Amino acid sequence: MSRLPLWAGRACARRATRPAGPRAEVAACRRRAIWPAAPHVSLPLFTRAGQRGVLRNRRPVPPQRVTPVGCHLQGGVSVKKIGVAGCGLMGAGIAEVSARAGLDVVVVESSQAAADAGRERLAASLRRAEAKGKIPDAAAVLDRIDVVTDLEALADREIVVEAIVEDEAAKVELFGKLDRIVTAPDAVLASNTSSIPIMKLAVATSRPSQVLGLHFFNPVPVLSLVELVPSLLTDPEVAERVRGFARDTLGKHVIHSQDRAGFVVNALLIPFLLSAVRMVESGFATPEDVDEGFVRGCAHPQGPLALADLIGLDTTKAVADSLYEEFKEPLYAPPPLLARMVDAGLLGRKSGRGFYRYGEGRR
Ligand SMILES: NC(=O)c1ccc[n+]([C@@H]2O[C@H](COP(=O)([O-])OP(=O)(O)OC[C@H]3O[C@@H](n4cnc5c(N)ncnc54)[C@H](O)[C@@H]3O)[C@@H](O)[C@H]2O)c1
Repeated sequence: MSRLPLWAGRACARRATRPAGPRAEVAACRRRAIWPAAPHVSLPLFTRAGQRGVLRNRRPVPPQRVTPVGCHLQGGVSVKKIGVAGCGLMGAGIAEVSARAGLDVVVVESSQAAADAGRERLAASLRRAEAKGKIPDAAAVLDRIDVVTDLEALADREIVVEAIVEDEAAKVELFGKLDRIVTAPDAVLASNTSSIPIMKLAVATSRPSQVLGLHFFNPVPVLSLVELVPSLLTDPEVAERVRGFARDTLGKHVIHSQDRAGFVVNALLIPFLLSAVRMVESGFATPEDVDEGFVRGCAHPQGPLALADLIGLDTTKAVADSLYEEFKEPLYAPPPLLARMVDAGLLGRKSGRGFYRYGEGRR
């Protein structure tokens, strides 16, 4: 008597009549089985006589089934649509890593000129990534990103990451608007703020349990760290979902911080940067000597003044202001030189001049 498979996946379980012989039966099961998306998956196979075997998935998997489009958060929730507010240094970086992970991305800017500049920033970064062989097709990634000026375009997003200027009043106003616009009842509103307490943004909404800090580092496609900052009112399940999203979908390393100005990294980094500015301000050392000291003496990839220029001197000052506001410690107070440079529009790399000059063959 031939040994017939009793079941092999759902398809074979439903079979009433069987072709003759075990080989024919296995072939029929292979044809009818509903294979999972992952390649090389095997299903158990049993015969009437109790023999065990396996059905191996040898079918080629279409490329779109293995591309991580629509990514699963912990707890089985899937995120496909992400929104980003702001397309400056950080917003563009967050949009880029999201699109590279296969997500559908909408980025909102405050004006058409800023949207155009943001799109160009994204395109240039993706072209560089393609040239270095980090992504196969920059145009395909860019196609997944819409840069617009209408905040309503964020209505259907599952997660929105706010990355606008480091200005508390502007962020509070935006969170109030996002709360009214974003429709999904379980959508998460995250902020990339470097220093503003998350609670101040959370209470501007009617859903503080779904608001948290998700603090990326610059440049976002290069630096793997993300600080996860739940407020006292954030639902722990929401924090876990977002942790899973940052780790599994975006491939980031996540550390946890309490909701205190500056979180973990900036609370340590900003006083260091401000001390370097004070050294230059007092004539103690030149920017070049300060930076060279840290690159050659401490193996830092760049010195503190080059780093302040990269972060943006306006952002550096704004973070210092928030830290000083929170802790009232003199080490967080922005030195006058930093304030004057910001007044003068010397913002670092993004304006072409800070402690150094940029562009046209310079740094
Ligand atoms: N620069 C860094 O190294 C760094 C690192 C981590 C976090 N952050 C934080 O990320 C946020 C953004 O910083 P950035 O360096 O990208 O600043 P940025 O100045 O480069 O970009 C801010 C962008 O926000 C846009 N914007 C302003 N108001 C807006 C609004 N209401 N709606 C939509 N867009 C608006 C501006 O047009 C600008 O393009 C800040 O909260 C900052 O503290 C910055």
